[in-house]
Amino acid sequence: MRNALVIGNWKMNGETAANHTLVASLVESLEVSPVGSVEVGICPPAVYLHSVGLQLEGSVVSLGAQNLSEHNAGAYTGEVSAAMLRDVGCHMVIVGHSERRSLYHEDDEQVAAKTLAALRAGLKPVLCVGETLAQRESGEALDVVARQLCAAVSGLEADEFERLVVAYEPVWAIGTGKTASPEQAQEVHAHIRTVLVRVAGVVGQNVQLLYGGSVNADNAAELFAKPDIDGGLIGGASLKANDFIAICRAAAVAG
Ligand code: PGA
Repeated sequence: MRNALVIGNWKMNGETAANHTLVASLVESLEVSPVGSVEVGICPPAVYLHSVGLQLEGSVVSLGAQNLSEHNAGAYTGEVSAAMLRDVGCHMVIVGHSERRSLYHEDDEQVAAKTLAALRAGLKPVLCVGETLAQRESGEALDVVARQLCAAVSGLEADEFERLVVAYEPVWAIGTGKTASPEQAQEVHAHIRTVLVRVAGVVGQNVQLLYGGSVNADNAAELFAKPDIDGGLIGGASLKANDFIAICRAAAVAG
């Protein structure tokens, strides 16, 4: 059985005081009324990882980063390594988000190197895959997602698949208010599951598959009810404590 997992991706939002309030509400609410086996994580901007991590100590919420360098150390101005993320308390890191792919030109090869760097440092990579609207309209969605997935995971060892998380995030649904229907999302998730089992064997059954793209407190329950949707990667709605908590609770109900 796979645990449900809900991760907040704050993107480039936040500042010290507001972060403190948001995290305090989140931690308190989950303490007062726990969400059972649902795993919850938040990914603040890199500059706030340390302070948010201190605030999360002793809570059930894990710390994650939004990006990492594929390099271990050295002359890479502005970059942050996997070991540094571990050092400040991260357990997970988002890899290959579509905004990184499109705005910062990360290609499949770089995403694969980052996935490996995360795993080697003991982090859980949250590997993002997803098609554009044009690709969906031309019937390529499943192929695009499979290609992005295989490029990043085909060289991994069995024990590395145990720590992998995959997030299906259709580019046309991110930050647009347009969500994939539960059926559309389930179709792609089932395909991702098939590809994972083909590449990794039975261990592919254990990989948590998240849906991301305009998930909110109203649509989370029907998405999470689908058999291959194990939770969500939440952008905008993760910045509001009540909305994010409602999404975590929807994951608990979906079980
Ligand atoms: P959104 O972002 O929930 O604001 O659409 C999701 C994501 O980009 O991870």
